[in-house]
Amino acid sequence: MEKIRVVLYGVGTMGSRTAKFLLEKEGVEIVGAIDIAKDKVGKDLGEVLQLGKRLGVVVTNNCKKIFSKACCDLVVHSTSSYLKDVYPQIAPIAEYGINVISTCEELAYPFATEPELAKKLDVLGMKNGVTFLGAGINPGFLMDTLAIMLTGLCQKVDKITVERVMNAGTRRVPFQEKIGAGLSVKEFKEKIEEKAITGHVGLEQSIGMIAAALCWELDKIVVEPVNPIIASKNVASDAIKVKKGGVAGLRQQARGIKKYKDVITLDFQAYIGAKEEYDSIRIDGAPPINQKITPCVHGDLATVAIIVNAIPRLINAAPGLVTIKDLPVLSAAVEDMRKYVYSFAKPYK
Ligand SMILES: NC(=O)c1ccc[n+]([C@@H]2O[C@H](COP(=O)([O-])OP(=O)(O)OC[C@H]3O[C@@H](n4cnc5c(N)ncnc54)[C@H](OP(=O)(O)O)[C@@H]3O)[C@@H](O)[C@H]2O)c1
Repeated sequence: MEKIRVVLYGVGTMGSRTAKFLLEKEGVEIVGAIDIAKDKVGKDLGEVLQLGKRLGVVVTNNCKKIFSKACCDLVVHSTSSYLKDVYPQIAPIAEYGINVISTCEELAYPFATEPELAKKLDVLGMKNGVTFLGAGINPGFLMDTLAIMLTGLCQKVDKITVERVMNAGTRRVPFQEKIGAGLSVKEFKEKIEEKAITGHVGLEQSIGMIAAALCWELDKIVVEPVNPIIASKNVASDAIKVKKGGVAGLRQQARGIKKYKDVITLDFQAYIGAKEEYDSIRIDGAPPINQKITPCVHGDLATVAIIVNAIPRLINAAPGLVTIKDLPVLSAAVEDMRKYVYSFAKPYK
């Protein structure tokens, strides 16, 4: 089997890290790169990744130049969180017979907020024999897929409570900025109102995905307003200093309500200086389940891992729009990537 051929669409923080990880792996090659950033277009990908060597792949902003019928097996896409922005970028790719995996948060479970675009992607995928998948750590795994898997151990599920608490100081700078770290409370509130800060995108998608897996018909999903977390003392990351009384990060909560009861609650906290970092899932049911991962999983590293580990699943998946819960259980693709393509599609020899 030829190497799995990948085009990167978006060579920012996640795209660059994914590229570097792909370069370490056997059985896969990067054959193209797309980005609109002026400091990247026209440069060799090796230069953009600061590898000190050329890779022979020039970053372009012209998708038409890159794509031709089956020029690659899949596109790894990471440009934006919202499907309205992402749809015009990824939809045309289907016509070239190419699969797409994207870090777009809304694509992880697009039926929650963008059912029409989800339907259109599904139809496009089926018509062209390709698969669209939104993937990442959150949404996409820690606050949804993992909880779904744990319910597989239950005879009865009454309520699912998921918490993710992370020290944003150890995460990428765009993430720290996205959660408002370093702002005053007034600036934070203004930026939330202007939508210059969106906070974490994905709680609605995670609740939707869990409910869909359990075939729960929810009355509604309530996403609470984003609240700033105020620093109780001076705290700092390498990039951002927060004075006592300033905004260290944010807290977001959401609830899935069924028959007037909260049956799914999600609590996301990300701030510089968080003392205890953890991911926890509690299932009230039979048997009850309490799972805690401490410290919490490093989101950036794990997102890159999930994107790359999901590549064989994406290639093997049925055409259309799928979500991560619809694919075989994810595992690390630590060997030659091609082995995993065979192992699901037909017996590996
Ligand atoms: N689901 C998850 O768990 C998860 C995890 C991590 C990240 N994400 C999401 O993934 C997305 C990417 O994250 P990131 O940290 O890599 O962001 P980033 O550093 O801002 O990188 C995005 C890159 O895409 C480029 N770009 C934007 N629009 C484009 C377009 N239309 N065509 C081509 N390139 C375009 C940007 O160029 P400019 O800088 O010029 O705009 C930038 O170089 C974000 O929305 C992030 O929230 C999701």
